Amino acid sequence: MRRPVIAGNWKMYKTRDEALAFIYAVNQLVPDLERVESVICAPAIFLRDLVKREGENLRIGAQTMHDLDEGAYTGEISAVMLKSYGVDYVIIGHSERRAYYNETDESVNKKIIKAIQSELTPIVCVGESLDIREQKKTNGFVKAQVLKAYENVTDIDALKTIIAYEPIWAIGTGKTATPDMANDTIKAIRAVLAEKYDEQTANKVRILYGGSVKPANIDSLLAESDIDGALVGGASLDPDSFLTLVKAAIK
Ligand code: PGA
Repeated sequence: MRRPVIAGNWKMYKTRDEALAFIYAVNQLVPDLERVESVICAPAIFLRDLVKREGENLRIGAQTMHDLDEGAYTGEISAVMLKSYGVDYVIIGHSERRAYYNETDESVNKKIIKAIQSELTPIVCVGESLDIREQKKTNGFVKAQVLKAYENVTDIDALKTIIAYEPIWAIGTGKTATPDMANDTIKAIRAVLAEKYDEQTANKVRILYGGSVKPANIDSLLAESDIDGALVGGASLDPDSFLTLVKAAIK
């Protein structure tokens, strides 16, 4: 069985006071980690404050990282730095990073390898634009993204990763892929893993859906055979909403 994951992606939201209020509100209420992995991926500046206060069942992640351990890269943060602060997860290749910060399939690949070496769990984002969806080229596009992302990643290491399928047209737009649509593409991603590795590996890797996930639609998404959780932006900012989502994952 694949343990569900609900990962909040706060993006560039909240002040320090708001971040602290959130963790105090949810910390004691998130369900047992054995039943669902509840993760908050926060702006880097809040990571230390959040890790210091994380309860037994909550985990903290970063939203991006550099692929090198150190160097003259003003403004960047490395995987070893994140690890040294007790961070456990990192989002890699979010579509906003790809669109605004020149993240490419190649850089995503390097970062996945570095994250695994540094014992961070990468949440690897893939997903198509509306144009690609309308041309009915989604599965081929996402397949290419996954193959490039996992180049030189062994089957053992692939099991240490989480994939998030996030159609770009569904992110922050209020338009969710239908559960069927999301499940179809996630199955296609699993087929790519089966082809590259084997069935067993493909059946063990957790694959999340992301894009306008909310308390109102989480149940129908998680009812699908291959959707193992969600990467959630807007609806992860409010403690009650986040708790509703993580609780939905253990039903
Ligand atoms: P959203 O964002 O839930 O606000 O659509 C999802 C994401 O970008 O990960």
